Amino acid sequence: MNITTDIFYVGVNDHTTDLFEGQFPIPNGMSYNSYVILDEKVAVLDTVDRNFTEEWLGNVREALAGRKPDYLVVHHMEPDHAANIANFVRAYPEVTIAASAKAFTMMEQFFPDTEFPNRLVLANGSVLELGKHSLTFLAAPMVHWPEVMVSFDSCDHILFSADAFGKFGALDVDEPWDDEARRYYIGIVGKHGVPTQTLLKKAASLDIHRICPLHGPALTEDLSHYLNLYQTWSSYEPEESGIVIAYTSVYGNTAQAVRLLADSLIAKGCQKVAVYDLCRCDMSAAVADAFRYDRLVLATTTYYNNVFPFMSDFLQRLTERNLQKRKVALIENGSWGPLAAKQMKEKLSGCKNLQFAEQEVRIRSALNAESREAVERLAEELA
Ligand code: FEO
Repeated sequence: MNITTDIFYVGVNDHTTDLFEGQFPIPNGMSYNSYVILDEKVAVLDTVDRNFTEEWLGNVREALAGRKPDYLVVHHMEPDHAANIANFVRAYPEVTIAASAKAFTMMEQFFPDTEFPNRLVLANGSVLELGKHSLTFLAAPMVHWPEVMVSFDSCDHILFSADAFGKFGALDVDEPWDDEARRYYIGIVGKHGVPTQTLLKKAASLDIHRICPLHGPALTEDLSHYLNLYQTWSSYEPEESGIVIAYTSVYGNTAQAVRLLADSLIAKGCQKVAVYDLCRCDMSAAVADAFRYDRLVLATTTYYNNVFPFMSDFLQRLTERNLQKRKVALIENGSWGPLAAKQMKEKLSGCKNLQFAEQEVRIRSALNAESREAVERLAEELA
């Protein structure tokens, strides 16, 4: 597949893995992108997941059309992209690997039995001349690992962006970009908003016509749409007005309060109300929506003087991704000694710029007239 006249896509689609990185459901698969630049010198950009070695080597061989690669460029050492470095060196022993110093350290760790004698160590600002194409490398630490570099081809104005601007979903599945790119960014890179902002500032100085990430489609039109979303996500600003209600319920009573609240919010004109049963939903979708919308309701049972396990997991995922700049409301249930609201607040105490709703709802076992009124008052406050 041609990206431009002399840049070729040689990646693969994965429809066999159920959980990406062992935790993110990928119902529409995943792509591991790799590119070949044919110029006076030939460069292969990144490898693919270990389960696709032969398919990828075949794609590379076809794109090379009988030529030998001069360089294997390694933007990122995570195994979804780097698993085949040793196999590539075995297939093309004369190739020079171009990567950051940290990437070479990781390469030795991942492949203790392989020698990598031909090395080009890249630093921020390094330039790899291929002929009419030249790649300028920019360090992008923590987007998503510390060794990451992105590169810019000044000939075709392409940013090879590593994990940034990637998405879940294989390339042979047609689906909108935003939702699966948001779930991917928030889930995988969301903790690293500040480094992502640094990368965006560097990118702003480049005349980019196309973004080629390591996952998902090459982005060619209306690049400001993608750049603006990354600006929003990495600065932790809510993307739009809406309410997420995330809950756990043991015997259905907390769920009943959640339904009452959701119905009341909708009746009051709230157009976007997303409800997640944390015990049964894709938690990564709930996390992504918690960062998407500007209001979040957490409803859970007191459990061992703490909060129910799935809510505990959800809160950990939110806090380790630096949830901030949101309004948060709390609903707790407890048949004796309810403590969940207090515990949830404590778990969120390190989050910046959270505004807690004045109205808290306490359910004693099941809804009664008093707690129903509290739910209604909360709906009024949130709407
Ligand atoms: Fe797609 Fe951080 O690897």
